[in-house]
Amino acid sequence: MADNYLEKRMEQYRSSQAVSSVKKEGLASLLIKNRSTRGYDASYIVRADQLRRIVGVNNKLASARNRQPLRFRLVTADEAQKVLPFIRMGAGLKELRLPLAGTEPNAFIVVCSTIEPRNSTYVDLGISAQSMLLQAVEMGLNGLCIMDFDADRLVGSLQLPYKPLLVIAIGKSGEKARLIDINEGDDHSYYRENGVHYVPKVVVEDLIIE
Ligand SMILES: Cc1cc2nc3c(=O)[nH]c(=O)nc-3n(C[C@H](O)[C@H](O)[C@H](O)COP(=O)(O)O)c2cc1C
Repeated sequence: MADNYLEKRMEQYRSSQAVSSVKKEGLASLLIKNRSTRGYDASYIVRADQLRRIVGVNNKLASARNRQPLRFRLVTADEAQKVLPFIRMGAGLKELRLPLAGTEPNAFIVVCSTIEPRNSTYVDLGISAQSMLLQAVEMGLNGLCIMDFDADRLVGSLQLPYKPLLVIAIGKSGEKARLIDINEGDDHSYYRENGVHYVPKVVVEDLIIE
């Protein structure tokens, strides 16, 4: 063994650690960046391969009885108008009529179910949606879960073979959002002040049942 073998291996190990610590973003940081986004940078057009990569998380997830009933319809800018009229955003800030003109999302993932949804389907749906959103955030994008949509009209406009359960908007965020701590009994409503979207979250101590 060459005299400097161990020294070289140590050097390689240190540099690989340095690279991975630069590259890797911790879960807490991804979760904080994963804010529901209702205003997007219109100049950024989300590509089909980006949506495919986001949907790609789904064959690594838990699923009740491993049924895997969820299917995904990718919608890019050329078809965005088939979705936009049928979704509603920001019911908590009705007076703003979100999304503001010129900040609409141009890409969507429509999550459908091949079976009549039961409780476990909605658990599968939550696991899927959050995993996809975290993947999007890791790619520098953001998103929004939308359950307030006209399912019948969406089935018609996208010719969906299955029932849509959730629409996820995806894009480059044009918003500033901040989390703020609240206690259990405080107002949970999100609000905007000086161009910042504030989202109150109950502190962990109040989430734990004593
Ligand atoms: C299941 C689900 C359905 C939602 N549906 C809508 C919706 O239809 N329209 C909307 O603007 N936001 C919707 N949201 C986003 C919530 O309003 C948002 O999660 C909440 O305000 C907290 O903000 P945060 O996601 O940044 O923590 C939905 C979120 C979830 C989890």
